[in-house]
This record gives sequence, structure tokens and C-alpha cells, in this order.
Amino acid sequence: MSRLNVAVIGAGSIAASHMRAYQATPDAALVGVYDIRPERTREVAEAHSIRAFDSLDDLLADPTIDAVSVCTWNDSHAEIAAKALRAGKHVLVEKPLSKTVAEAEALAAAAADSDRVLQVGFVRRFSSNARVLKTFIDAGELGEIYYARATNLRRIGNPGGWFADSARSGGGPLIDIGVHVLDLCWFMMGCPRPVTVSGVTDSRLGNRANITSLERYKVADYDPDLSDVEDLATALIRFENGSSLLLETSYSLHATDDRLEVAVFGDRGGAELEPELRIVAEKHDTVLNISPQVDFATFDFEEGFDNEIAAFVATCLGEAPLIAPVEHGVEMMRMLTAIYESAALGHEISLA
Ligand SMILES: NC(=O)c1ccc[n+]([C@@H]2O[C@H](COP(=O)([O-])OP(=O)(O)OC[C@H]3O[C@@H](n4cnc5c(N)ncnc54)[C@H](O)[C@@H]3O)[C@@H](O)[C@H]2O)c1
Repeated sequence: MSRLNVAVIGAGSIAASHMRAYQATPDAALVGVYDIRPERTREVAEAHSIRAFDSLDDLLADPTIDAVSVCTWNDSHAEIAAKALRAGKHVLVEKPLSKTVAEAEALAAAAADSDRVLQVGFVRRFSSNARVLKTFIDAGELGEIYYARATNLRRIGNPGGWFADSARSGGGPLIDIGVHVLDLCWFMMGCPRPVTVSGVTDSRLGNRANITSLERYKVADYDPDLSDVEDLATALIRFENGSSLLLETSYSLHATDDRLEVAVFGDRGGAELEPELRIVAEKHDTVLNISPQVDFATFDFEEGFDNEIAAFVATCLGEAPLIAPVEHGVEMMRMLTAIYESAALGHEISLA
């Protein structure tokens, strides 16, 4: 196979980034789409000159489709991805892998029984700044990484709709945006095994629909009265190798600004990936802050998706290794659900 025929399942906002990236990848052809809302399926199909499918089963039964992107709400990721694998399709499934660990493990079992590719949508692993830093870390420039800080704070950032409905999302900022920075740190640390998790969540501010002074992203089915998810989550995770990670993430917080910070600290050097790639080294008894010269020193949405999807296509065609395997998605679900569990119980959780 020299060209991959791809269809997208779930035709909302992130599906647009997937579709744009597939259409920009010479080795892929975007051929179809399906959404539970028929009018959205038709609209998107017309806009991209691709086939509109009336059902998931019809799409998966089409032998001309080689691969799918799963861009639905979090509650259906694992089930649709497993079904697609069983139908012989390669799968790129958006983050988070699932809502629960049990769903993630069932998908991992389906992936183990299949000879198809299952890539988890940890898009930030594929951005230029992350790729450059990983090269430095793998070459030992930072030594052993023993601490990481992951911050993704929004002050007025609850998108509402299904994002604010735990039955469909599985949670708030932790599972939606905290997952990105947690995964980046964990990936840079070499994916150590988590052993204990201590988490705190708060839900005092709600979706802050009253605020009119600042613009915000609102999902298509925004409802100002709906929010049963946390608006703040913090966590300390300890790993088997002795390293630790501090996470903080919010949708709503009385902060002066939004904040995105991803930093890892080793015994030979350190690095900040966000807000901008910088490496800290020590040479001749002098501390150096090094700014690698890359086109995207900070995460760029379009570049990230272009790279993620080009990597997925190349992996499906047997031309590149798998960078975000299902096992990583399962381990991430263990950490996320342990944070929620620890917060609910009010004490540390052991994952050992
Ligand atoms: N990687 C990233 O940076 C990133 C960014 C945004 C969203 N996401 C993820 O992408 C997914 C979608 O988010 P979004 O912002 O596009 O939401 P959205 O609400 O804009 O779109 C979701 C679409 O999925 C459809 N859908 C829901 N359940 C379905 C099902 N069972 N079968 C078919 N279609 C179904 C909905 O009708 C909707 O059109 C979420 O899991 C989210 O976490 C990832």
C-alpha cells in the first residue's frame, strides 16, 4: 500500500485539524466522514468533497478505508477505536484514550489482538520543540530527570457543552488539558511507572458564564448552566525510579493570566518546553540558558497536527516507529483516574 485512505469519525472542531492535516499529507487521502449528527456529517462531507457515511457500521465495513481518526466525545473513544481495529482499520484516537481504566485496558487488549496501528492523540509529543528536546534528553544532556512541573491554567476556559458534562467527558480540565502537559513531562521523563498519586480537585467557580470582559472558546452545544466537572486539579505523582511530577490545571481560576508551563529537571541539566523551548546547562562552573533555534520553539497547533498525522500515516505504511502506543494511553488513564480518586478520598493512592 503506498497511499492510506482515511475517514474521520466525529466531525467537530478537532476533526477539522485532522482533516486539514490528512489533506496536506501526500501519502494519505481523506475519503469519508461520519458524525452522530447527520446534518454535521453532510456539511463536513460537502466542504471536503468526501463521502458522508450514515452509520459507523457502514464506514467500518467499507474495505477501501484503511484508517480512521476517532474525534468523538471522550465517552466513545475506546469503544469506537476497538471496533475499528476489529474491522481491520488503523486507528488514531484522540486524547484522552477513554473515560475509565477498564475501557482503556479493553482497547489495549483489542490492539494486542490486531495487527493494525493504534496511535493515541498525544499531539504535543510531535511538535518541533518536543522533538528537539527529546533528542537532547535521549543523548543524556540532562542526565537523569528527577523532577517535572506541568502547568496548564486557564482562568476563563471552560468550553461548556459536553466538556462540562462528566458523563460524556469523564472530567474537567484534568482529563481535557492537564493530560497534555502531564503526558509531555512523563514522555520526556522516559515514561517511568507511577507508584503513588496525591490529587486535589475543586469546583467552586463553575463555568463562569457570567464573565463578559474576556473572549473564550465555547463548544458548539454550549450551555451556560451546565458544569458538573472540576474547575481546578492539582497532583503530586511519584514514580518507581524516585522521580516526581507536580501538576496543576484549571478551567476557571482567579489568576492574572492563563499559564502554560512544562519543565523537566535532571542532574546534569534542565529544560522548559513551554512557554518556550530553553535548555539549562552547566559548563566551566557557569550556568547557561540555551535557546535552540527551531521554527516552532513553542507549541503550534497546526504544526503539531501536521506532524502527528504525518507520523501516523508513516507508521501505518510501515515507514516509521509508533511514538504514542496504546500502553502509554492506558498508563495515562491510570494516573488521571488515580488523581480523581485521591481527590475524592482525601488521601494518597498507591498504584504499585
Ligand atoms: N489533541 C488536542 O489538542 C485536542 C483539542 C481539542 C479536542 N481534542 C479531543 O477531540 C475530541 C473531540 O473534541 P472537539 O473539540 O472536536 O469536540 P466537538 O464537540 O467540537 O466535536 C465532537 C463531535 O463528535 C460527535 N460525536 C460524539 N459522539 C459521537 C459518536 N459516538 N459517533 C460519532 N460522532 C460522535 C459530535 O456530534 C461532535 O460533532 C475530544 O476527545 C477532545 O478531548 C483534542
